[in-house]
Amino acid sequence: MAWRDWIRDGVEVEPSLYAADFRRLGEQIDALLAAGCRIFHFDCGDGHFVPPVTIGPVVLRSIAPGIHAAAGVLDCHLMVDDPVHHFEEFASSGADSVTFHVEVAEDPAAVAAEARSHGLSVGVVFNPETTPARAAEAARAAEAEIVLCMSIHPGYSGQAFMPEALARIETLARLVDVPIQVDGGVGEENAAALRAAGASLFVAGSAIFGDPDPAGAYRRLGAAVA
Ligand code: DX5
Ligand code: ZN
Repeated sequence: MAWRDWIRDGVEVEPSLYAADFRRLGEQIDALLAAGCRIFHFDCGDGHFVPPVTIGPVVLRSIAPGIHAAAGVLDCHLMVDDPVHHFEEFASSGADSVTFHVEVAEDPAAVAAEARSHGLSVGVVFNPETTPARAAEAARAAEAEIVLCMSIHPGYSGQAFMPEALARIETLARLVDVPIQVDGGVGEENAAALRAAGASLFVAGSAIFGDPDPAGAYRRLGAAVA
């Protein structure tokens, strides 16, 4: 299975579990699965590539069986200096896809090959300071299945959307022919504009988990991008 099999009707909203209430993580995941959610975004930060240490394989192992049993998948965004070091453990912990930052990958083809050797699907991601052209070049070299355009500086949920992401996505859409994912400050207020710019995978942390009813927020966001 790969990204092309996971995306229904060309568009998906992906709850970013980093923003969940961890005391109620299982319950919140179950409610989202029942609301029709298929792809969950999972952010691993190493405290070096990004300032915080976030969540990692221990959490992944707890949630992956239930998500897979419901035909869901785990899209892991590795905000780390050395992604290759983590692939084996992510794969054995239940990750379906890993997305690595082009800023840390001198040889994107080699990094992607290493991920695939563990049965993982592959995406590449680029920060606001990195050009879409460089991201597209890395995506081609890696034969990435998706390209993630950050619309915040990675590290924390709940940051304000950077409006320049719209033009960056438009530029990227002219350079790649794989689905474009957007992550950071995504919500009902900017989702339609992001879709028009060329994004089809919408990662949302606080827009979903900041709502008293995450499943309802997931559905509303789905309607906004449909
Ligand atoms: C932050 C992560 C995001 C984050 C998004 O670096 O990559 O996935 O959880 O959260 P919001 O949607 O609140 O910006
Ligand atoms: Zn993320």
